[in-house]
Amino acid sequence: AADARNVKVWLEVAMRRAIVAEFGEEYRDVDPLVTPATKAAFGDYQCNAAMSLGKRVGKPPRDVAVRLVAAAQLADVCEAPEIAGPGFLNLRVREDALASRLAVALADPVRLALPLKRAQRIVVDYSSPNIAKEMHVGHLRSTVIGDALARLLELQGHLVVRLNHVGDWGTQFGMLITYLREVAPAALETTGGAARLDGLGISDLVSFYKQAKKRFDEDEVFQSASRAAVVALQAGDPACLAAWRGLCEKSRAEFGLIYQTLGVDERLTERGESFYNGGLEEVVRRLDEAGVLVTSEGARVVFPEGAQPGADAQAGPPPLIVVKSDGGYMYSTTDLAAIVHRATEEKAERVLYVTDAGQSLHFAQVFAAARRAHLVPDGVSLEHVPFGLVLGEDGKKFKTRSGDTVRLADLLAEAVRIARDDLLARQAERQAAAGPSAADNADPAEQIDVDALASTIGISAVKYADLSLNRNSNYKFSYAKMLALTGNTAPYMLYAYARIAGIQRKARAGTRESAPRATGAVRILLGTPEEKALAMHLVRLAEVVDQVEHDLLPHRLCDYAFELSGKFNQFYESCPVNGAPSAELRESRIALCTVTAHTLRLVLAILGIPTLDKL
Ligand code: ARG
Repeated sequence: AADARNVKVWLEVAMRRAIVAEFGEEYRDVDPLVTPATKAAFGDYQCNAAMSLGKRVGKPPRDVAVRLVAAAQLADVCEAPEIAGPGFLNLRVREDALASRLAVALADPVRLALPLKRAQRIVVDYSSPNIAKEMHVGHLRSTVIGDALARLLELQGHLVVRLNHVGDWGTQFGMLITYLREVAPAALETTGGAARLDGLGISDLVSFYKQAKKRFDEDEVFQSASRAAVVALQAGDPACLAAWRGLCEKSRAEFGLIYQTLGVDERLTERGESFYNGGLEEVVRRLDEAGVLVTSEGARVVFPEGAQPGADAQAGPPPLIVVKSDGGYMYSTTDLAAIVHRATEEKAERVLYVTDAGQSLHFAQVFAAARRAHLVPDGVSLEHVPFGLVLGEDGKKFKTRSGDTVRLADLLAEAVRIARDDLLARQAERQAAAGPSAADNADPAEQIDVDALASTIGISAVKYADLSLNRNSNYKFSYAKMLALTGNTAPYMLYAYARIAGIQRKARAGTRESAPRATGAVRILLGTPEEKALAMHLVRLAEVVDQVEHDLLPHRLCDYAFELSGKFNQFYESCPVNGAPSAELRESRIALCTVTAHTLRLVLAILGIPTLDKL
């Protein structure tokens, strides 16, 4: 089997072999069309290849299906296939095939998800906020989605490089430095090569930036001073560099706090735009040599392939500006230099850019220009991973009541505050229900740390809400929805995990007391439909992980986790664990609980959500 852990892929390979064996080499390109069965009654998967194949060979699909069944060697994994309707093959996975995969997962839960394939070097460019600006909800999305994708790819065995492409370069620094010189010269006093910016917070910088922008637009003297400051900064003027470093450090500290709160992987490496400064000239030269640069209105631009400046170009997409008419470089120039660095120095085979969908055109143009000028080897895959907007509950742009952009730190703190209130309210309810004496008798060791719990629940809720929806769509930010205890939310998943882990622990402990048995391999029995359905879903983890590796849609993992907890509930309702009719069955069911708990924990860990054994 090419890939025995991923049952769907295994079936695809087996069906493709059958097609080739029966109809010849020229049919190798036929899609075996293996999909999960639409109804449990049809089995676990179906193969719909007979229809399209029938058309191609000019035979009734049912006859084709009969021949495929005869030729397919599926017995290792499936019961004998059934032919249904016009020629669907219904495939039922054998109990022992599921059991053997679960046995592997029981020994090592990660194994069920881990493929044996060649590791790729993958750069994930995510988070990427801007210096002297507040991180906003868009950066939250990028951070949470990028972090989850990086974890998943790493779990798949790839070598992942996490890069934070911080916006730390450009004309805004000229304005800021000029403005600071005017209004807060003392703040520019330097220690260790960086301005101290004493007494200034990040929000001061943000408002300075706004005021500086205003001055820039209104005042010509300020404008030329700002331009001169940018040129000086780029030429390495010590005073400008020190001011710039100070600004970067201030922002960096603020970003760091958010990353810590969010639990972002610490290997996320800051490699801002300034890092690529030295490569800009070279990249322009290479574009020029490749003949893709055109001078248009004093700027040097790359037109879309085939298009040229002139009347009809107006209708098409705009050109990519690489050098402005004043000789300045652009966001896109930096990205072109970054592509070169990632492909040649980092030796990346795949580069992912996690940003809002508003940058789709930018990346399409940058990738196209890089390809045309052969800045990267053809085999390197450049992928924009776009996401939609975060909207307020009114469906408009997400703003505070006073109309300001929402500060990420405030947003996260608010989620934690609401989670805490919820916890306290429920605790009070429970105590009231238990009566006054219960509170006195409560075991202090059983007391939960409400603050720690609220922070886990609140932060997880924000992250999970973002991850659980298809990233391509916009979503409405709602504390009530993301903190709900029911539905596909973090609180629901956290409680589900704690409950399953608790059931599993208790059952396990019970076994040890009653019969300290030898730790032989557990035989997993899947006699009831609920046990079988749970087992099948557990085994499907590999399929989901493989799919996300390619389509980079983490919500599939949330759907999987939510469905898993549902399948577990159905199993637990109809299959007594402790009260199982035999010791053997009890062992098997405990094993199912264990694999479920481990799988859920693994999936949540990929999403960057911690689990708690007790809530
Ligand atoms: N700093 C940019 C922003 O805030 C995102 C950068 C994304 N990465 C890149 N290589 N362009 O929108």
